[in-house]
Amino acid sequence: MTRLFFIEKTEQLADKVYQMWVRAPHVAHHAQAGQFVIFRIDEKGERIPLTISAVDGDSIRVIFMTVGKTTTHLASLSGGHFIKDVAGPLGKPSEIKKYGTCVLVGGGVGTASLPIIARAAKAADNRVIGIVGARNAGLLILEDEMQHACDELHITTDDGSKGFHGFAADFLKQVIAKEQVDCVWIIGPAIMMKVTSECTRSAGIKTFVSLNPVMVDGTGMCGSCRVHIDGITKFACVDGPEFDAHKVDFNSLMQRLRMYQPEEKESLERYQAHICTCKGSERHA
Ligand SMILES: Cc1cc2nc3c(=O)[nH]c(=O)nc-3n(C[C@H](O)[C@H](O)[C@H](O)COP(=O)(O)OP(=O)(O)OC[C@H]3O[C@@H](n4cnc5c(N)ncnc54)[C@H](O)[C@@H]3O)c2cc1C
Ligand code: FES
Repeated sequence: MTRLFFIEKTEQLADKVYQMWVRAPHVAHHAQAGQFVIFRIDEKGERIPLTISAVDGDSIRVIFMTVGKTTTHLASLSGGHFIKDVAGPLGKPSEIKKYGTCVLVGGGVGTASLPIIARAAKAADNRVIGIVGARNAGLLILEDEMQHACDELHITTDDGSKGFHGFAADFLKQVIAKEQVDCVWIIGPAIMMKVTSECTRSAGIKTFVSLNPVMVDGTGMCGSCRVHIDGITKFACVDGPEFDAHKVDFNSLMQRLRMYQPEEKESLERYQAHICTCKGSERHA
């Protein structure tokens, strides 16, 4: 018998950002901070990796941004629908231990990864400062949840519509100038992680980033997720996704992320045309 994964609910959190609760007991019972799942919506679907953002009983939550065909399709599935495959938990868990003061910096949808890390870091007796950044106030996510999970939370927006006016990196510099910081997690778009992790390099602060290369099998076999860490090739799906930020070759990561853009654009356009045709034929039926 084919096992399917039941979607409990889907909610929109911000423009193009959705949260989805899926019943996946095996994943939920073993998941740790920093790990991810690979979803395949149906038999013909492509595999997409998504961070496990929260766990509740037998269910996991993922938070995703609709950037292409599969994430757009996923957002169209509401409570009561099913997903064909949910593989996980995958990847190495975050390196949680007692550091002292930890700062967790989230950019855009990357913030989805932070509450579970914040709770684990608190449980390990750290003081946790959260910095959640977005382009504008309407794109901020998980503010209340982060408020509860952290000892202190700061909001930054690029346009100043809420909280500190500027980038999360600028705010992080201020925190580091004011107090002793022992460990930092930065999770967001590759360029944001690259720039923000420079703020901690000269101070020698241990800094983790969670890398998001294209993944296919998630088992270390296909090689598609290779990244360069300190000049050595690693596979993000099994050796990561979290790595020491100061050893990551971000330029090669960003170059590889751009590699399939024409195909991804074409695939999304074909999917959108297909949806329009289906809606059109429903109207004429
Ligand atoms: C470990 C990990 C955790 C992630 N967690 C999240 C998350 O919690 N929320 C979220 O919104 N996104 C997350 N991503 C990125 C997410 O997997 C992609 O946005 C998604 O695969 C895009 O698929 P698409 O068909 O909608 O878009 P496409 O049009 O296929 O691609 C759009 C962009 O998404 C990226 N992408 C495409 N396919 C893959 C793939 N198979 N693996 C990885 N990246 C891909 C590429 O950068 C691409 O340019 C994560 C990626 C990794 C590696
Ligand atoms: S996704 Fe295939 S090796 Fe990592």
